[in-house]
Amino acid sequence: MGWLAARVFLALLKALLSAAALDSPSTATPGSPLSPTEYERFFALLTPTWKAETTCRLRATHGCRNPTLVQLDQYENHGLAGARQGGRFYGLELYGGLRMDFWCARLATKGCEDARVSGWLQAEFLSFQDGDYPTKICDTDYVQYPNYCAFKSQQCLMRNQSRKVSRMRCLQNETYSVLTPAKSEEVVLRWSQEFSTLALGQFG
Ligand SMILES: *[C@@H]1O[C@H](CO)[C@@H](O)[C@H](O)[C@H]1NC(C)=O
Ligand SMILES: *[C@@H]1O[C@H](CO)[C@@H](O)[C@H](O)[C@H]1NC(C)=O
Repeated sequence: MGWLAARVFLALLKALLSAAALDSPSTATPGSPLSPTEYERFFALLTPTWKAETTCRLRATHGCRNPTLVQLDQYENHGLAGARQGGRFYGLELYGGLRMDFWCARLATKGCEDARVSGWLQAEFLSFQDGDYPTKICDTDYVQYPNYCAFKSQQCLMRNQSRKVSRMRCLQNETYSVLTPAKSEEVVLRWSQEFSTLALGQFG
């Protein structure tokens, strides 16, 4: 892509991003989540393939420090480019400029109702909609979760034990062990406790 074309793309992306930002004044706070409507609009304007390709080219010509690219990353963190493969989705590499370890730690200490944690969960949940039941949450261990918070807690827990569990599309012809809401709360609590133990062990 030529220099001029890259400039045009940048201008277009800036326009799209500011249109999305103007949409809802409440999301102007850095790190605050996109509403589902904003998210849908954002993706309607920038379809994943097109966007991934464009941002790669922009990166090649302008580097990652470009403010528009940084802003784009903050919108949805190229989670679509690498992490979504074969009906699986591990998670966003970055959210709000911060890695999964940060968010796992925050989930463990502040819980899923924390505004920033829930923004992260929502962004990830919406980043992957696949299979026969796109809004249901199944994982690579064939467990089905009643909410994303429980899935993420389990994933954080497994990650800390160096075991990789991904979200996987839910299919009609597969059998899942369905976690009850009570069991799913236990999973959330387990990660929180495990994290406290680890953190105490590290500093105490
Ligand atoms: C598990 O969490 C602890 C505490 O945050 C950390 O020190 C440790 O490196 C983690 N282990 C892995 C395998 O991620
Ligand atoms: C279910 O269908 C998918 C393709 O849609 C296939 O890959 C998978 O092996 C099937 N699973 C079972 C248990 O039949």
